[in-house]
Amino acid sequence: MLIAGNWKMFKGPVETAAFCLALRDAELGDADVVVCPPAVSLEVAVQLLAPTEIAVAAQNVHWEPDGPYTGEISAPMLRELGVYGAIVGHSERRQLFGETDETTAKRAEAALAAGLEVIACVGETGEERERGETEDVLRRQVSVLPDDDGLVVAYEPVWAIGTGKTATPATAQDAHAFVKSLLDRPVLYGGSVKPDNAGELLAQPDVDGALVGGASLDVDSFTAICRATRPG
Ligand code: PGA
Repeated sequence: MLIAGNWKMFKGPVETAAFCLALRDAELGDADVVVCPPAVSLEVAVQLLAPTEIAVAAQNVHWEPDGPYTGEISAPMLRELGVYGAIVGHSERRQLFGETDETTAKRAEAALAAGLEVIACVGETGEERERGETEDVLRRQVSVLPDDDGLVVAYEPVWAIGTGKTATPATAQDAHAFVKSLLDRPVLYGGSVKPDNAGELLAQPDVDGALVGGASLDVDSFTAICRATRPG
């Protein structure tokens, strides 16, 4: 099972170093663990976590290897830093920064081609769920993703992100089974995962791990979620 911490725009290099040093000594159970710091903190995270099995991923990646794309970072640049993977298509990128299914797919394809692992985010908004469109939205978002051994999907219902409103284990299970019927890849659940709800979410048969935002910023809560994974 994979537990990924999406730090969003939190923790510069100094805080990242302190977090990684604490993480090195923490009990993580059987989980495969990834942290996704902001771009400026990737290097220190890679260096400090190098002696461990904990991987470091970026929160986004551009599809071109280089070029006039102000503010973007390419897959070869991340590889040069020793980064293992990247998140693509997070709902905050989609809602706030104009990310689309097409650009998400381009980012995923380029990252995979460069040898990065990819966590591709999908998920419906609250209005889409209320209108009964959840499966249509997931089908549209998943249909563009490459079927590749290096790709993991993260099902993150937008109404559950940062809201404290977690999907029930049954709702998550239904969505995960649906995503897997479209693309046979591991599916992480994301959206207000906390130490006290991680166990029941991760116990669902088609929940293969978690993408954790807020609760990944604290070593104790993040490692408690890691320890809540089921074995295997
Ligand atoms: P949250 O964020 O755990 O704070 O809801 C999850 C995410 O956005 O990946």
